[in-house]
Amino acid sequence: MSGGDPRSRGGCGVDTAAWYGRAVTRLAQARVDPAVAREDLIWLGYDAEDLDALPPEVLKYSFGSGNPVGLTRLRPGEVVLDVGSGAGLDALIAARRVGPSGRVIGVDLTPEMVEKARENARLAGAENVEFRLVTGDSLPLEDASVDVVTSNCVLSCARAPDRLFAEALRVLRPGGRLTVSDVVSAPSALSGGAPTGSSCCSSGGLLEPPAPEDGRPSAASCCGSGSGSGFLSLEQYLDKLWQAGFGRIELGPRRDLAVRDSPRARALLQSAGAAAGAGLTPQELAWLRSCVYSTVAILAYKPGPAAPAN
Ligand SMILES: C[S@@+](CC[C@H](N)C(=O)[O-])C[C@H]1O[C@@H](n2cnc3c(N)ncnc32)[C@H](O)[C@@H]1O
Repeated sequence: MSGGDPRSRGGCGVDTAAWYGRAVTRLAQARVDPAVAREDLIWLGYDAEDLDALPPEVLKYSFGSGNPVGLTRLRPGEVVLDVGSGAGLDALIAARRVGPSGRVIGVDLTPEMVEKARENARLAGAENVEFRLVTGDSLPLEDASVDVVTSNCVLSCARAPDRLFAEALRVLRPGGRLTVSDVVSAPSALSGGAPTGSSCCSSGGLLEPPAPEDGRPSAASCCGSGSGSGFLSLEQYLDKLWQAGFGRIELGPRRDLAVRDSPRARALLQSAGAAAGAGLTPQELAWLRSCVYSTVAILAYKPGPAAPAN
């Protein structure tokens, strides 16, 4: 689907599959110190225990904005759907949490991501997880067949967020929960009112800053957190959840993050200082220094009598 299928277009017309296909291919070739990747994920809000249970080489494959299950606990035996599962990090963490009696399904529209996620699952020895090349707006899953839907930095910038929320609600059982980390458009004060030129800001994304080689709009115009961002505002996000039919909603603290403060960016910037750019283009360096974004964790329940205590 990387070849320009319109279903792959993100909220601002970016070819999502092509962009993420390039990002994961480039990341696969990059040498990333697993200890730095781990620090980066802790910085984003992940639990050390979850990370330490995974093979260290998997940790560099993060493209998210935070810990998508920061507001809830996954329980043994639960069925989890990860929408936009990328290279599988969150699905693999979930797979361990739900245990052998549970099951995790990751869906993603980028073929290279699905391939890498399957490879990472093999590395992790996870047998209760599967990855499917599917878009989140038409899920091949039965109604009410899932306990938890997770998603990390996908819905806010999607071409059709309403459709994704509706599908998530449909497949959730009554009382089931949607638990996400996502980027929301930030107050322009965050970037001092200046355009940030940021892309999806995550440790994986660090290696794929906006590069509009061919002059087309890049993910920068979509996934920036400064003015003109293609992200939903928090208010729009909550509105869409309510309109889709979600009931109780809990919000985690909103965090305004600068990529240059992340352990991985610090390491890259240090090596760039020491070695004339360390292979980074001036545009990439500028991006690392300037990218700022606003991330939030949201937990939303499908109405129903069986809503579990969190
Ligand atoms: C920001 S990355 C997050 C990946 C992963 N959740 C993580 O945290 O590393 C977004 C992922 O969602 C996928 N994606 C974006 N829109 C999608 C959609 N409508 N349906 C399925 N996957 C989608 C992209 O291909 C990409 O792999």
